[in-house]
Amino acid sequence: MNEDRSLSAEQEVGRINAFFPILPNLGNHWAAERPWEDATIALNLHLTTLTACLVRELSLGGGTFVLSAANPRTTDASSVDLLRNLGFSVYTGGDMEDRHAQVLDHEPNYVVDTGFELTHSLLERRGNLSAVRAGIEITRNGVTRLRGRGSVPFPVVNINDGRLKDRVENRHGVGESIWQAVSLSTGMHLAGRRVLVVGYGPVGRGLARYASAAGMAVEVCETDPVRQLFAHYDGYPTPTLEEGLQRARLLVTATGRRDAVTLAHLEHARDGLILVNAGHGGDEIDVEGIRRVCKRRDHVADQVARYQLESGAALTVLGDGHPLNIVVNSGSPEPVLLHFAVLGLTLQWLASQPDLSPGEVIVSEEIENRAARFALDALNPARA
Ligand SMILES: NC(=O)c1ccc[n+]([C@@H]2O[C@H](COP(=O)([O-])OP(=O)(O)OC[C@H]3O[C@@H](n4cnc5c(N)ncnc54)[C@H](O)[C@@H]3O)[C@@H](O)[C@H]2O)c1
Repeated sequence: MNEDRSLSAEQEVGRINAFFPILPNLGNHWAAERPWEDATIALNLHLTTLTACLVRELSLGGGTFVLSAANPRTTDASSVDLLRNLGFSVYTGGDMEDRHAQVLDHEPNYVVDTGFELTHSLLERRGNLSAVRAGIEITRNGVTRLRGRGSVPFPVVNINDGRLKDRVENRHGVGESIWQAVSLSTGMHLAGRRVLVVGYGPVGRGLARYASAAGMAVEVCETDPVRQLFAHYDGYPTPTLEEGLQRARLLVTATGRRDAVTLAHLEHARDGLILVNAGHGGDEIDVEGIRRVCKRRDHVADQVARYQLESGAALTVLGDGHPLNIVVNSGSPEPVLLHFAVLGLTLQWLASQPDLSPGEVIVSEEIENRAARFALDALNPARA
């Protein structure tokens, strides 16, 4: 019997909460405390079902929540519908500046950001700075931009550099979910395939480990000599990008850097290479360049495009070079939900600290310990 296996965002949220109820448990706690009563909170996030899970529970703590899409390519339409049906203002149209302007018109007191994009708009272009009490940055790229700026006129809590994110979300969450997304997009069985992992930070390390576990042959390209050495002692060959490209069937980037893989690099690629990005943005692989120089582009399937180059080699790009696990909405949600628990507990802490000094604040051990306790309760490891 045929059965419609697609889940609405509402059902998906229910399924996620049924197996790992960390956010509903926190929601009960916030409903009792009402920590951000009367505050306006702006969130610039990937708009997925997990974000819907988060915002629904956060709103039980009072306040007004307004959202902008961090990346249209990672925006899930049914999650946006769900959020709007729940009464939240969600801005997804126009370019990034339009979305930010719409969010900032609400004069937020707290700004929760992915990649320091909304905060940058607030500081550079517009926005009532006097209303802003604090910010939260959730990504490595955002923290790099925050530090590059030198100073900010309000406190910004960096929840990327605590003990939890690197170890759980970056390593295990992305490590597992990218390969699920590749299998979902291509139908390929991954065992026996050779992959080149570009970047060996926590994300690259997780990608390599889960690829190995799936039976893939893994090589690692890393520019930092210390991390290259880690990759070597973890058991992976560490060729240059040009050398590795001659052998790899798949390449996955996790550098957080624009143009880590350029057209010049791709001249060394073997025919049939599949390109995947796991990093924050959509610019680690020069997909624009590939599109510009290719002889022909074929749409193979949803999120799968094949480009025929003049040289005769064909390249397949998944998710148009955007973070594939988020584009495809795949993988275990637990690591992201744990990160969101840290986010919510940080917001609660900020609401109780009116006199913090401006500048970067690293998320405290106390907040992470609380999040870990909520996670352990949700996992109930004795019965796992
Ligand atoms: N897809 C997701 O769900 C998800 C989740 C978490 C983080 N991220 C993103 O993944 C990216 C990596 O995260 P991370 O925590 O591992 O970052 P990281 O900065 O710790 O590691 C990146 C590594 O890439 C290396 N590198 C930089 N340029 C390179 C190049 N041209 N060639 C080879 N190596 C290069 C750096 O030396 C570094 O070791 C970031 O953009 C982060 O925001 C994505």
